[in-house]
Amino acid sequence: MKLGALKNFKECKDKLELIYENGKANIYFVSDEIVRFEIPCMTDDYVSVAVEGNKKIPCEYKTEKISDGVNISGTKTDISVRDDFAVEIRDKSGKVIMKDYSKGRIIPQTISEKSVKLLEAEGHSASSYLHSDYKVQDLKCIDKDDLFYGLGDKTGYLNKREYYFENWNSDIPLAHTEAVPALYKSIPFFICKKKDSVYGLFYDNTYHGYFDFGKENSSYFVYGADDGNLNYYFIYGEKITDIIEKYTYLTGRTPMPQLWTLGYHQCRWGYESANDIREVAHGMRENRIPCESVQYDIDYMDNFKVFTWDEEFYEKKGKLMEELSHDGFKPVVIIDPGTKKEEGYFMYDQGIKNDYFAKSPDGSVYVNKVWPGDATFPDFGRKEVRDWWAESHKNLTDMGVMAVWNDMNEPASFEGPLPDDVVFHIEERETDHREVHNVYAHFMDIATFTGMKKLTGRRPLVITRACYAGTQKYAAVWTGDNQSLWSHLQMLIPQLCSLGISGYALAGTDIGGFGANSNSELMCRWIEAAVFSPFFRNHSAKGSRAQEPWKFNDETTDIYRKYVELRYKFLPYIYDLFYQCQKTGLPIMRPLVLHYEDDENTFNLNDEFLVGENLLVSPVVMQGATRKMVYLPEGTWYDYWTGEKHEGKCYIIKNAPLGVCPMYIKAGSIIPTYESVQYVGEKPYDKLILLTTPGAAEYVHYQDNGVDYKYEDGEYNLYKFSKGSDEKLSTEMIHEGYKKYKEVVIENDV
Ligand code: GLC
Repeated sequence: MKLGALKNFKECKDKLELIYENGKANIYFVSDEIVRFEIPCMTDDYVSVAVEGNKKIPCEYKTEKISDGVNISGTKTDISVRDDFAVEIRDKSGKVIMKDYSKGRIIPQTISEKSVKLLEAEGHSASSYLHSDYKVQDLKCIDKDDLFYGLGDKTGYLNKREYYFENWNSDIPLAHTEAVPALYKSIPFFICKKKDSVYGLFYDNTYHGYFDFGKENSSYFVYGADDGNLNYYFIYGEKITDIIEKYTYLTGRTPMPQLWTLGYHQCRWGYESANDIREVAHGMRENRIPCESVQYDIDYMDNFKVFTWDEEFYEKKGKLMEELSHDGFKPVVIIDPGTKKEEGYFMYDQGIKNDYFAKSPDGSVYVNKVWPGDATFPDFGRKEVRDWWAESHKNLTDMGVMAVWNDMNEPASFEGPLPDDVVFHIEERETDHREVHNVYAHFMDIATFTGMKKLTGRRPLVITRACYAGTQKYAAVWTGDNQSLWSHLQMLIPQLCSLGISGYALAGTDIGGFGANSNSELMCRWIEAAVFSPFFRNHSAKGSRAQEPWKFNDETTDIYRKYVELRYKFLPYIYDLFYQCQKTGLPIMRPLVLHYEDDENTFNLNDEFLVGENLLVSPVVMQGATRKMVYLPEGTWYDYWTGEKHEGKCYIIKNAPLGVCPMYIKAGSIIPTYESVQYVGEKPYDKLILLTTPGAAEYVHYQDNGVDYKYEDGEYNLYKFSKGSDEKLSTEMIHEGYKKYKEVVIENDV
């Protein structure tokens, strides 16, 4: 990859082509703030999976030859590019923002083969001890104060400095500790916050990727990939929020969800019959715990054949769904990509007949094992395969299914990983598993989203386990198979905040933990901490302790109900945040550093978060704890529960026995709420209740039918609420296109 001396450069339409001694490189000017750097090691015409359409915004860059390279002067940044495609980017005051590290890696001593064998004999993975140059590699300088945020669902903490991660979508049923380098998702985007500047990097390459944030050496960051082009977007901004806005401009934003999808969902792999589902649904209503869906895991299928129904245990197709729909339950079903290899099964027969499955290099259909035993893998990168899969959802929507949960789409396989050379496609182009693995789920999710949108006319809820950058346009995510561990409850906060700043606004964890056995205290603390998780679902594994709240004790049920009701109260606020997300890309759950980036107390704050800008939540996530040390950033804050006033930029100790999740609202806030219901649609939302805190405030509230796309034709309302220091509220309709509330009232219970 050493390009050598720069020989020449030429300006083409949208790019600058640099001719080096040993190859060439390209620089694309996407906008004043976004520049793409590319070494086309694999292909000259890379088409991004994540960045759809032409994102070019007119911008101005002037180039000038200097003795050892080229200087490029833009309106926001100055870029110098030298031999070996060494890039340096400065702001207009001359301050260096990002700089390539040109000295090469100082690769730590690789351990001996003998030691690897010993380690592996006891079951250790030796891969993290092995180091070598990657085929595609990029090194950037790290400064003493640099902090790294993003990368999606990775384990551990908010700040990734000195950690090492990989991008290879992986099904990890074992505990997700910070030693696990890759989970289910690959989002090669991160933000580097420096002492007095910030930038973003998006390495758009779908091959197995590697990120070392100064673990190997504190002077540099390493990006590596097994193949493909070196292809990264540099994103400039003054603030962290600017970087998120630009990144989501490139890769797309989470679309407006249906309102009910933001309510509570109950699930378990182990509801083995219609009666199990029925009992849980009745249990939710009897215990007065609001709930939108009791989800159907793989048990509902006939022999784990996707798009089928097991009539022996789950009664006649559609009957249960119909029955429960009268009580407000919306059917959500799981679908896996692995399609059972069985002649006579319609999906398999259609796939074979039309040549829709991935193949081995010898031309035979590739088979591995998943839930149904021998299974084939649809080649989702091809449009005709996606269209077939999309239409197959009619089997579900005809039954009444309203949302689909895509699982095992890394793709997971039980008989070892898919070999590198399994033949797949990206659109018409033939390629192999190495390039497609990390975008396999992305293409599957496009198929599901398109199918459900067309078949129902509603905003689809597609929940996916695996994804790549940009999948946020099509699917919500959950963090896969966590466990009922306090450390996994703690990780909920940095993990969902990291997903949020990486474009995934609609994300959640399995509340209570999927694997292992939960307990009453953990359940209570989990529902408290998860109450503002954008995707809000309790899920658990077969064989683990049941996790419906009433299976523990009355206290757990009461606390659980209190928080699910709280969620329903704040639904209009959460919905507003999704509306804003369309415009800014900013997530619902935000780390404090997003809005207080000059306050070093927020840089590594892993146990609290903001919901929007003005609601701060600091859950108790330690076993046995009944008090919480809460950091309040600058400003005046009001305790949500007691109304107590606190001046910020300090730590306080909050008494937080089981059932109390510390929450604070900033002075000068208006927050819209609803009365809690048992499910969205139980009764019309005629009354909007505004929670306010003292001080001048302005707030824009969005309202539409919460279901379909009529808002795109203007069927929505935008209210602008304002109040001065006299606390008198005034309302202005910025847009009026939908049935208005009958009543808007202020309730100052804060
Ligand atoms: C996987 C999923 C889990 C699901 C199970 C059975 O482990 O991550 O959520 O319940 O498969 O379908």
